Amino acid sequence: RKFYVEEEGALEVSTTTILPEEVLKASGHVESFTDPIVTCKKCGRAYRADHLLASKGLKVFEATPTEELTRLIREKGVNCPACGGEFNEVEKHNLLFELTVGPYVSKKRAYLRPETCQGIFILFKRLFLYNRQKLPMFTAQIGRSYRNEISPRKGVIRLREFEQMEFEVFVDPENKKHPRFSQVKDEKLTLLTEDGEELTVTAEDAVKEELVANEMLAYLLAKSKVFFKRLGVPEERIRFRQPPKDERPFYAIDTWDTEIYTDAFGWVEVVANNDRGDHDLNCHMKLSGEDLTVKVNGREFVPHVIESSFGVDRPLYCILENSVADDGRGWVFLRLKPCIAPWHVFVFPLLNREPLIKKALDVKNKLARSGIETGYSDVGSIGKRYARADEIGVPYCVTIDYDTLKDDTVTVRDRDTRKQVRVKIEELPAYLQALVRGN
Ligand code: GLY
Repeated sequence: RKFYVEEEGALEVSTTTILPEEVLKASGHVESFTDPIVTCKKCGRAYRADHLLASKGLKVFEATPTEELTRLIREKGVNCPACGGEFNEVEKHNLLFELTVGPYVSKKRAYLRPETCQGIFILFKRLFLYNRQKLPMFTAQIGRSYRNEISPRKGVIRLREFEQMEFEVFVDPENKKHPRFSQVKDEKLTLLTEDGEELTVTAEDAVKEELVANEMLAYLLAKSKVFFKRLGVPEERIRFRQPPKDERPFYAIDTWDTEIYTDAFGWVEVVANNDRGDHDLNCHMKLSGEDLTVKVNGREFVPHVIESSFGVDRPLYCILENSVADDGRGWVFLRLKPCIAPWHVFVFPLLNREPLIKKALDVKNKLARSGIETGYSDVGSIGKRYARADEIGVPYCVTIDYDTLKDDTVTVRDRDTRKQVRVKIEELPAYLQALVRGN
């Protein structure tokens, strides 16, 4: 929220997770949001046909026609990995979860949303008025989305119910620029183009050399990189991949995926940065009959949408994996940045007895009141409490001991170095605020 909603001045909305059929018919999801599926004649197990062929070293895409996939499966003699049975013909499997709404005789069909941004598109007219009819208009939504995946797997990497944070920018099609591009223009982007070429260029050069189609899209790539670097992902583990046209979502005219390298799963897509063109507003306009053209600077047009569509679960996994640290003596802990740690600080009385407990709770409340996310524990020995705090990634621990009662000072312990310093209680909030801000 700080990085996208506050910094970009975005309008954040929270819309329903249940969408009437009309919305997803208009958007094209009812027709086109499909994966190729193949089922075993013998045991009935279902597989993604493209994944199955890819595992045999064949280059196929989600959009490869089903007849072609069936032909390849037959030609290569691919059988069910579980029981060895033969496969039926490849079919299209729609990823939408279907619902019926209301207790009426003629029930209405609806779907769980497959992406949060459709809720933003159908609010476009109001949001645009609220934004004083200015472009670019930044909007955002965080929430659950649902996809009836054929084979959810790899922990949180492929889930049927997952969290998204979507940042949708409405732009003038003739001016796909960001007013603050200069802030990210020198950010280095490692690009893997649709032709398979890998090169590292600045965001500015990526636009100049027409590697990335427009400035707004390049801004979003660079911004996502800065975001993940701040969350502790090393720069060399972040890259951008442009899927070939056949692999892009049906609504996208250009796509660059932000990917993070993980030891467990290799490169993982964590953000889809899509230029959706006028696909969505046009589709909704057609089906609803509502006029969504705008008049800006004397010209009338349908705005284009450029988005950064973040998963939350996948990046969280990537951040956790990239934060696991070992001090070399088997002390395993999470080197989380304060901005993503579960608490900024834990406060402990050295021993579980009064008057240390009362003093520790006073200090904890003083810190919490000054906006520092502060936890407290008096369970177990002090060594165990440090270990538990380190394990969940709390960057600082404050300990109240018998000297505190004499001179109003405490120890502040740093998780990563385990060094301790003594600080006066009256200076503690400012001292810790500076630390958690990274100063
Ligand atoms: N809104 C793009 C996506 O959900 O992938």
